[in-house]
Amino acid sequence: MVKVGILGLGVYLPSKKLTNFDLEKMVDTSDEWIRTRTGIVERRVADVHEKTSFMAAKAAAHALKDAKISADDVDLIVTATISPDSNFPSVSCKVQKAIGAKKATAFDVSAACAGYLYALTTAKQYIQTGMAKCALVIASERFTNLIDWKDRDTCVLFGDGAGACVLKAVKSGGIKADFLEAFGDQWDLMEVVAEGARGPFNPEKTGCVKLPYVRMQGQELFKMAVNSMADAIDQVIKKAKLKKEDIDCIVPHQANDRIITAVAKKLNVPKDKIFINIDKYGNMSAASIAVALYEAVKSRKIKKGDNVVLVAFGAGLVSAANVVKW
Ligand code: ACO
Repeated sequence: MVKVGILGLGVYLPSKKLTNFDLEKMVDTSDEWIRTRTGIVERRVADVHEKTSFMAAKAAAHALKDAKISADDVDLIVTATISPDSNFPSVSCKVQKAIGAKKATAFDVSAACAGYLYALTTAKQYIQTGMAKCALVIASERFTNLIDWKDRDTCVLFGDGAGACVLKAVKSGGIKADFLEAFGDQWDLMEVVAEGARGPFNPEKTGCVKLPYVRMQGQELFKMAVNSMADAIDQVIKKAKLKKEDIDCIVPHQANDRIITAVAKKLNVPKDKIFINIDKYGNMSAASIAVALYEAVKSRKIKKGDNVVLVAFGAGLVSAANVVKW
C-alpha cells in the first residue's frame, strides 16, 4: 500500500480580532463567562474582501511554499468548508484559478468541523489508488457569515480562518490510519436555519425573511462531542496498531476547552499531550484543526518521528480521526 504523508502546511488568519470585551458591548455576556465556559479569549473576523475562497487560496499558497512544491505539480484540490462564498462554484475551483494549479481537479467536501479530516482522508485515497499524485487539502471557514449577532448562545463561539496542507506519497511515516463516522439521526442538534430563503417555486417572492443563522443545542452537542471524540481516538489508535502511550500529541477540534479536558479525562491522557489554541481563534469549524496542526508543528510541539492523532466532531453529526507519523 502506498504511504501518504503531509509535506507542507500553511495558514491564513484575518488580522481583525474580536475580543470577549468587544462582545460584552454587543450581547448580554461577559469575558469571565466566555473564558470559563469555553476557553475562548478572542477570535478573528474576516473583512469584506476576505472571502472563504480568498483565505483558502492564501493558506494553499503558504502550504505549497512550505512544501517547496509548485502549483503546476498539484493535481487535486479538496477544500473542506460549510461557509463557501456561495452555493457554487466550489471554493476549490476558485483556489485552482487563484494559485494557477491548471492540472488539478477540484471539489469541496461538507463535514462541518470534521471537514478537514474528511478531506484529508479523501485526498489520501486518491493518492493511494493512483488517481492523484499531489493533493492540496484546504479548510477555510468564514463562519461569522452564519452568525446571528444577537444570539449570545452562539455568537461568542466562532471565528474565521483557513489552513492547508500538501499531500504526496512518502517512503516512510505518513497517515497511518483513518476513522470516519456519521450520526445522521442527530442532525437536528445543529444546523444553519435559512427561514424563507428556500422554498417552493414562487416568482412573486422577493428576498428571504432572515439571513441564514446557526442554531444548536449546546449541552447535547457537548456530551456527543466528548463521547464521539474519545471513541474516535480509541478506534483510530487501534487501527494504527498503537497504544495510547505511543501517542505524542493529540490535535483536537477546538470547540470548547472543557470538551477537550473531558476527552483527556475520559481517555486518561495527560492534557499537556493535547494541543490547544482555542483561546486565540475560537471555533473555526473545519479550519480549527488545520490551523492548530500548523501551530503545533511550527512551535515544535510536534517533532519528526512523533505519533500524532487528529480528532474532530461536527454538525451532521459526524466524527473523524487520523493517526499521522510525523
Ligand atoms: N454569556 C453569558 N451567559 C450565557 C451565554 C453567554 N454567551 N450563553 C449562555 N449563557 C447562559 C445561559 O442562558 C444559561 O443561563 P441560565 O442558567 O440562567 O439558564 C447559562 O449561561 C448556562 O447555559 P448552558 O447552555 O447550560 O451553558 P454550558 O455550560 O452548556 O455552555 C456552551 C454552553 C459553551 C455552548 C457548551 O454547551 C458547548 O460548548 N457546547 C458544544 C457546542 C459546540 O461545540 N458546537 C459546535 C459544534 S461543531 C460544528 O460542527 C461547528
